[in-house]
Amino acid sequence: MNTPQESSKRSQGDFPFSKTLILIGFMGAGKTSAASCLAERFALQVIETDQEIVLREGMSIPEIFSTHGETYFRDRETEVFRDLKESGPVIVSAGGGAVLRDENVKYMKANGVIVLLTASPAAILERVRDNRDRPLLNGKMNEEYISALMEKRRARYEEVADHIIDTTGKTIPEVCDLIISAFHT
Ligand code: S3P
Repeated sequence: MNTPQESSKRSQGDFPFSKTLILIGFMGAGKTSAASCLAERFALQVIETDQEIVLREGMSIPEIFSTHGETYFRDRETEVFRDLKESGPVIVSAGGGAVLRDENVKYMKANGVIVLLTASPAAILERVRDNRDRPLLNGKMNEEYISALMEKRRARYEEVADHIIDTTGKTIPEVCDLIISAFHT
């Protein structure tokens, strides 16, 4: 059996971030994977904003979009960010469009440190192409569209971020390590 020192799972005391860590970035940038890797390493809870909305609404993201529309989804997303103050330090994996609303960013800044994950459009396409849970990409699953939407959002992502990490060609543990080391430099 591992002694506590040998165990790969560290305790919350070793968590290098004093506040909640919020992962932002385009769809397929690796937020979900990095969040679960960090949560596993530091024994912390993950709040995946999309998943939280699905739980609260009892519907999938595509169903929410088709039944109620995007604005309704965005309003639910804002509620999740508003509720962040109720949780202790956690890892948040934010839906890709969450930074577009000033109100969401206000709650993010008030409650956490923000890390932007990026990837090339080709890498993004590779990761999302077989997934049908992203209404914004349905029928537009190609590199040109992804690249154009990414460009449209790039400045906003960068202005909001405290740290930026490119995940292109990296494994999940590598991304996880890079996020942790960003806080030691
Ligand atoms: C969206 C990203 C999705 C989800 C919704 C809209 C976006 O989350 O919130 O489909 O506007 O970029 P992921 O970034 O987790 O895929």
